[in-house]
Amino acid sequence: MASRYPASWLDELRSRSEIVQIISGYVGLKKSGRKYWGLCPFHGEKTASFSVDAEQQLFYCFGCKAGGNVINFIMEIERCSFHEAVELLAERAHMPMPEMINDADWEQRRTRRERLLQANREAARFYHETLFEPAGAASLAYLRKRGLSDSVIRKFGLGAAPDQWSSLTDRLLAAGFTLDELSAVGLTVVKPPKEGGDKPRYFDMFRNRAIFPIIDMYKNVIAFGGRSLGKDQPKYLNTSDTPVFNKRKGVYAANLLRQQRHLDRVILVEGYMDVVSLTQFGINGVCATLGTALTNEQARLLRRFAPEVWLSYDGDAAGQHAILRGLDILEEEGVPARVLDFPDGLDPDEFIRRDGAAGFSALPVLPAAEYRLRRLKESFDLSQDEGKMNYIRKASLILAPLDPVGEETYLKMLMLETGFSHDVLKQQVDTARGEKRKAPENISPQAAVRKSGSVQKRITAVSPELAAQEILLGLLATGQIPKDMVEEKDFEDEELNSLYTALISGASPASLLDSAPDEETRSRYTRILMTPAADNTDQMISMATECLERIRKSSCQRQFDALQQQLKSMDPKDPSIPSLLREAQEIQKKLDKMK
Ligand code: CTP
Ligand code: MN
Repeated sequence: MASRYPASWLDELRSRSEIVQIISGYVGLKKSGRKYWGLCPFHGEKTASFSVDAEQQLFYCFGCKAGGNVINFIMEIERCSFHEAVELLAERAHMPMPEMINDADWEQRRTRRERLLQANREAARFYHETLFEPAGAASLAYLRKRGLSDSVIRKFGLGAAPDQWSSLTDRLLAAGFTLDELSAVGLTVVKPPKEGGDKPRYFDMFRNRAIFPIIDMYKNVIAFGGRSLGKDQPKYLNTSDTPVFNKRKGVYAANLLRQQRHLDRVILVEGYMDVVSLTQFGINGVCATLGTALTNEQARLLRRFAPEVWLSYDGDAAGQHAILRGLDILEEEGVPARVLDFPDGLDPDEFIRRDGAAGFSALPVLPAAEYRLRRLKESFDLSQDEGKMNYIRKASLILAPLDPVGEETYLKMLMLETGFSHDVLKQQVDTARGEKRKAPENISPQAAVRKSGSVQKRITAVSPELAAQEILLGLLATGQIPKDMVEEKDFEDEELNSLYTALISGASPASLLDSAPDEETRSRYTRILMTPAADNTDQMISMATECLERIRKSSCQRQFDALQQQLKSMDPKDPSIPSLLREAQEIQKKLDKMK
């Protein structure tokens, strides 16, 4: 898309599409404080963490972190494109569609990403077409041998990479893409020219493999997985991270998940084949991680599609281990989870081929606590008193977070397994509860390590100084603090700096979200631009003053540290030392004043 809507027309559209009114059509909202609150329509929840800010015309969910302006809301709730959302709102506001304009600057920023996605889209089409041509015969035979029907092959857009060095690259070069672009998305491997030559050498990344295109929830083809047809290693070759793909953030089949409304659970499996195969057998809401263990980002993404996640990993030892880690991650993100337990070490694909959809539906779905208890039990010898005692101690940590009904269920189970009385067990759980409140780390050692890691990350990600910059920007966005209080150099963070520049030049907070390149950034921008919790202008100004002090002080401190570092590393005879020393003294004075 080379053209776009005029910014002033979009502003007009947004101002005629009052966000509280529009969202009220989908979600029951109640006013409390400066914001409206309701149950988030994008993830299952029982207490309201979805907020709408009428002043800034933004929505933000503190649970699943979905956020944005009124157009973004329509895109999410109607599951449509930006263009469709704009048309829908324009019709509702009785605004005629405008003439599109060309904007060279915007185009340049957009174009690179769009061209990369376009290259992927063309590649996916090439692979899919090839599957039904002679060059794809081996892949087609392979997929058929694995039991896939033509209709499921088409549903997932599966394809074939021919057994040739550069058929895809040659095709895409002829279509006008450059080697630089093709190598950036990982479709082509480019080597420097041979000695004496001047042409770079290149070949296709995927050769002689069955292709699984990875498509995000906006239907962009973002990456590929290639399954070897025989014993070639690796079994699966996946696109590495590229400017349009981050394997830690997406899931396989997100495009299909998004189309299925009102799912009551998402089934998360390990492999692409498992997703395709379960889907062929009529199981809906299935997706997979992308060749990595479940990440926190993916857990948050899944929460958007259904209120619960069922981990359905392979029945082998590795899969079982991954379930415990996955449960910890989901717990960290507050996502209710259960476990589908596959017998005989089978993976979901093998199981459903053996026992069919009926067998699959009859599988036990274990609550997280029950699964953890089962696994725990395996590591103790319950015929010995010591084994029983240790089992009980660990088990009580698993029961501690449960509600009374859950607790009671498993207490009975523990009574049967160990022969301890109800009172003794109950006491043990209560003790664990106390300990847990003091030290949440002792759930499982792995969880503790990860937890401290993620807390650490959050602390470094939002240092006091960065937090101060974020709050300051939010205050500025209200228009209630004097613009000249703040300077551009107060925003060292690159994203915040560009938001500042846009705000100062008169852009509305809601319009700034159009410039967010991805969902995570949009969520961050929204959180920052929401009206801060202040009662009145005076309070806002005093908050801003406090933020500025913190920002300017740490900036001074940093300058001072850098100078000191520089001075230390200098030759003592260096003629510039006296002036640097003077500079350092000046900064020291400033710092003293601030303290
Ligand atoms: N995987 C990978 N690289 C490998 C092996 C596996 O990236 N060398 C990832 C792939 O995403 C794969 C998933 O891990 O889909 C699960 O691996 P595995 O259980 O080995 O794959 P299956 O789905 O059982 O594959 P198949 O049935 O095709 O053997
Ligand atoms: Mn398998």
